[in-house]
Amino acid sequence: MKSIKEVKDLKGKKVLLRLDLNVPVRDGKILNDFRIKKVIPTIGFLQERGAKVIILSHIGRKKEDTLKPVFDYLVGEVKNIKFNGDVLDESAFELVGKMKEGEVILMENLRKHEEEKEGDDSFSKQISKLGDIYVNESFSNSHRDHSSITGIPKFLPSYSGILFQKEIDGLSSCFEPQEPSLFILGGNKLKTKLSFVEHSLEIGSFVFVGGALANDFFKEKKFEIGKSFVCEEKFNLGSLLENKKLILPIDVVVRNSGGEIITKKPENVLSDEKILDAGPQTISLLEDKLKEVKFVLMNGPLGDYEKGFGKPTNDLIQAIAGSGIQSIIGGGDTTALINELGIEGKFTFVSTGGGAMLEFLQNKTLPGIEALG
Ligand code: 3PG
Repeated sequence: MKSIKEVKDLKGKKVLLRLDLNVPVRDGKILNDFRIKKVIPTIGFLQERGAKVIILSHIGRKKEDTLKPVFDYLVGEVKNIKFNGDVLDESAFELVGKMKEGEVILMENLRKHEEEKEGDDSFSKQISKLGDIYVNESFSNSHRDHSSITGIPKFLPSYSGILFQKEIDGLSSCFEPQEPSLFILGGNKLKTKLSFVEHSLEIGSFVFVGGALANDFFKEKKFEIGKSFVCEEKFNLGSLLENKKLILPIDVVVRNSGGEIITKKPENVLSDEKILDAGPQTISLLEDKLKEVKFVLMNGPLGDYEKGFGKPTNDLIQAIAGSGIQSIIGGGDTTALINELGIEGKFTFVSTGGGAMLEFLQNKTLPGIEALG
């Protein structure tokens, strides 16, 4: 795998720069700019060397999701940047044809095209015609076998980005975590994270499963979970529940039928209630565990952060920051908090990756790394 830093002459080169600009947006406003901030230096690096930078990214999971709010944000950070409505329409080729050195074009959400997620080779080939070289600066999406990650490198000389390499170096330093260890897994993508839950139960000392991931486990335990979020997919979690290393929330914050926010034991949730966060006893339990361990990994929030249920996650992150032990943090909403609090330096490594970080720690590689050769 060659880094873009090794390319001597970028002057006039059309660089297809794959970024992960998949950030949370509400009412046109970006809620967490951590990922964007991290890749701005790479755009600057290419501009300074006279490259013509064509940014490719996805956002969200629906065809209608748009990168326009990200473009509006980037206008304030990046000089000479334009937006184009579709990566494959005529205007994309026209605009690229007229680009001058140092100019940047952001192409609209790649997932407008089904072929992106299908990893369709003819789609990859068509996009590759826009550039002379390809740079993967989207470590956090490199667990996906999608056209813009594993397809384009089949057709163009391809390089890793600057942040991409930092992610690999930072995370590799924790392939062998110090023991005893604590893994804290939250968020809501159990399908993506289940394999890592199993892996951490093999290698770790304690594995806490919280956030919406825990609801699937409560359901498996035959607890009433009411209106709480669960994954669409069915999982067989029975054997995991028997594992003594597994820790689930011991109290949860719920909204009841009267709209009140109350705390209760998970086994007492009612059919008209919704679990929204971890309770204070759960956080105390994890804070105590932090005093016992030498390594902690945290990925994903414990509550519905976007709806304002962030305090328990916040308290826990602050406790990790103050613990001084080896620590790795990742996942969109978790890094949003770190970003807000300005405490990135208190952790061994903060990854822009959620699922990608977990898959890399487990498999020591990713489809996007393999594709770069
Ligand atoms: C992420 O946010 O983890 C990446 O952008 C991948 O997004 P996805 O889970 O929708 O593929």
